[in-house]
Amino acid sequence: MSILTIEYLQRIGELNMKAIEIRNKYLNFFKNHGHKVIPSAPLIPENDPSVLFTTAGMQPLVPYLLGEKHPEGTRLTDYQKCLRTNDIDEVGDNRHLTYFEMLGNWSLGDYFKEESVAMSFEFLTKELGIPVEKLSVTCFAGDEDAPRDTLTAECWKKAGIPEDRIYYYGKDDNWWIAGEEGPCGPDTEMFYDTGKPACGPDCQPSCDCGKYVEIWNNVFMEYYKAKDGTYTKLKQHNVDTGLGLERMTMLLQGKETPFDTELFEPVMEKLKELAKEDSIESRRIVAEHLRASMMVISDGGRPSNIDRGYVLRKLIRRMSRHLNKLQIDLNKLGDLIDLNIEILKEMYPDLEKNKEIIKQVIIEEKDKFIKTLAHGEREFEKYINKAKEENKTVIDGQTIFRLYETYGFPPEITADLAAEQGFTIDNSEFDKLFKEHQEKSRLGSEQKFKGGLAEQNEKTISYHTATHLLHKALQIVLGEHAKQKGSNITTERLRFDFSHPEKMTQEQLKQVEDIVNEQIKRDLPVTCEEMTLEEARKTGAMGLFENKYGDKVKVYTIGDFSKEICGGPHVTHTGELGHFKIKKEESSSSGVRRIKAILE
Ligand code: ALA
Repeated sequence: MSILTIEYLQRIGELNMKAIEIRNKYLNFFKNHGHKVIPSAPLIPENDPSVLFTTAGMQPLVPYLLGEKHPEGTRLTDYQKCLRTNDIDEVGDNRHLTYFEMLGNWSLGDYFKEESVAMSFEFLTKELGIPVEKLSVTCFAGDEDAPRDTLTAECWKKAGIPEDRIYYYGKDDNWWIAGEEGPCGPDTEMFYDTGKPACGPDCQPSCDCGKYVEIWNNVFMEYYKAKDGTYTKLKQHNVDTGLGLERMTMLLQGKETPFDTELFEPVMEKLKELAKEDSIESRRIVAEHLRASMMVISDGGRPSNIDRGYVLRKLIRRMSRHLNKLQIDLNKLGDLIDLNIEILKEMYPDLEKNKEIIKQVIIEEKDKFIKTLAHGEREFEKYINKAKEENKTVIDGQTIFRLYETYGFPPEITADLAAEQGFTIDNSEFDKLFKEHQEKSRLGSEQKFKGGLAEQNEKTISYHTATHLLHKALQIVLGEHAKQKGSNITTERLRFDFSHPEKMTQEQLKQVEDIVNEQIKRDLPVTCEEMTLEEARKTGAMGLFENKYGDKVKVYTIGDFSKEICGGPHVTHTGELGHFKIKKEESSSSGVRRIKAILE
């Protein structure tokens, strides 16, 4: 097939696959090559403070890359929901996305370079029908930590990539690690030639001009990088690959940006229709951030002022601000969410299931934001008038922080407004103050946590078991979305935070109380078993699965009523608890409710 025919094939729809078709082809292909298809882990690795969101398919698999046995074997494949927020401010151009889907396949001490390259080549050229002429590849050039990867280059040559389209680069381009420490190794990347003219005689895959687009990355993970920067060999060689679905969809459809594919195009068109003041960047930001927020909320994320919650808040705020810029009525958000769910529900059925919560969280956050904006803008104006009189041109970090902390006015908006008035902002000072603020809230919550566990006596142990009963009862009455968000126990009472978008009715509270008291009356035995997280997941235990993979966990079972991962301790029979009574139900934070209850 010649390069010239690809545009033709795209036009007649031969390569014109939808994202979901590419996903299915991928999973089937690797299934036929002996891989087990595993489910996507949630976007939010709950209780894992080291990362905010899942950013790569390998992340939930780290213990298995390090040698833990995976229950599904040594060849795995999946699609993984990912969120990367380091480039959040770039969204609006023609390529950046925060949320994306990564297709991946893994060898856990099974096949290595030869088979990995052969399979990738076969998938790209035979399954997706990409002409060989469109492909270039890169390999690791070698350095003091690991040798030049000539074997991989040989494999590509054998597959059919000519030598002049095989490039060698150093660690910056051809070495992959998630963060600073962990399993890692040299990688080989595959690039698609868009057919755009070369930017110069030295134009290569590493070049940013847009001619070459990276489509797939195979990491040969056989090293471990320690905190001190040293590398050691892992006990097994692994392969970890990642293929960005949105990008592949765009290329195969011959589109310029992911926003022109079926994943975004209907929303982009709708926004255009609604906009009184069109801007393609703003439309992209709205479409992208709305999709990302919906995925985060569907996986249990809620807006707040720190960490994950702040990222979600920022996504929703930025989206609202750009809806404003487009002069689109913010009341249209509900319709836009509906439209997005129509587009995405086949790929992510959970979105349809969580539709009401998604809507409530986004709309509530948008309403809060409108109030914040009005308030903050007045404050900002006061400041800026004074600053002008004083002939200032920079807004200091203290002021940005005060606007943020006292009025909830987002720094990115201060920056936008400042720019409109010809001012710049002192980001570094703000960042410093913001970090201090985050550290303070973290310390605060750690102390709260300690407080809850410090005293361990009959009373607190009883409250602990009651908490499990309450958690399960809430899920029965409200639905599975009512997941634990926090817990604090004293000798006087239990306090339990859980995700739920609205105030509970008296009737619901009564139902929950009755269910708990019924289990107490049944005098159910409380038993404990140790197992791996994977086994715990299989038993249907409630809990936080994305934490500490591979570790043994304790699962506490209360009769036939509840199963939950937990460190304990607990009473031996529910009959010991007495009578359970809910004293208060109130809001804890956005989308999170709080119950205080006693045993009497
Ligand atoms: N983990 C590799 C990546 O994210 C495949 O690119």
